[in-house]
Amino acid sequence: MKRDPRRRNTRRPRRPEGDGYTEEMSALVQLIDVSKRYEDALALHSTNLAIERAKTTVLIGPSGCGKSTLLRLIIGLITPDSGTIAFDGSQITPSNIDTLRRRIGYVIQEGSLFPHLTARANVSENLVSRYPIELSGGQRQRVSLMRALMLSPELLLLDEPLGALDPLVRASLQKELKEIFARLRQTTLFVTHDLAEAAYFGDEIVLMNEGHIVQQGSLADLREKPSRPFVSEFINAQRGLAEL
Ligand SMILES: Nc1ncnc2c1ncn2[C@@H]1O[C@H](COP(=O)(O)OP(=O)(O)OP(=O)(O)O)[C@@H](O)[C@H]1O
Ligand SMILES: [Mg+2]
Repeated sequence: MKRDPRRRNTRRPRRPEGDGYTEEMSALVQLIDVSKRYEDALALHSTNLAIERAKTTVLIGPSGCGKSTLLRLIIGLITPDSGTIAFDGSQITPSNIDTLRRRIGYVIQEGSLFPHLTARANVSENLVSRYPIELSGGQRQRVSLMRALMLSPELLLLDEPLGALDPLVRASLQKELKEIFARLRQTTLFVTHDLAEAAYFGDEIVLMNEGHIVQQGSLADLREKPSRPFVSEFINAQRGLAEL
């Protein structure tokens, strides 16, 4: 894949004008006091989060803790009940979301290939003449990820992109993706259930539980300075820690 890494992330962070922000907006995305309620459940309590440019921020936490909700808020599929989300210094509103969305790539779990298009149309290399149904799960996922990357999104949102892949395919896609992110200085928000994967990709790990961010930092921070017992319980519940 050929992309000029200098194309992006070289712009100086802009300071938004006249919309009440006073702090330096160096992050690409800034959530300020954002909350979201579905009919009967508060999926996201008032949350603040900065997604830094050219870094991979990993969201991790138990099922139902609000990870996908946070991604859907950023891409504007749902709107917050309170708070604001700024993208590159502009507050996301219903009137600008369509424009901003073109600057964001979004890969959902299981990939999102159009079933009637061949992989060439969906974008790939050697598997181009096959329809998605003729590709393995790993091949489909690879096509989805490469398609998203080739659109040069300023922000890449990946919702458990490597879940449900066999360990060898997963390891090779992890390595490939990590190299691409570094080369492109890609700003990525990556959701995973897997702590080893979080540690492998994450410049910053954001651990969520029950609609709250409970701790943010490196794996070492979480392990050595847990903010509450849940952090240690979550870490200890994951296997394979000897490798980390
Ligand atoms: N459309 C919806 N209507 C009602 N409740 C919802 C809706 N979408 C999500 N929820 C609820 O909001 C909470 C957060 O859901 P969310 O999908 O963000 O979790 P998640 O962290 O992505 O979980 P998983 O790891 O299983 O994907 C859950 O309790 C979920 O049941
Ligand atoms: Mg989810």
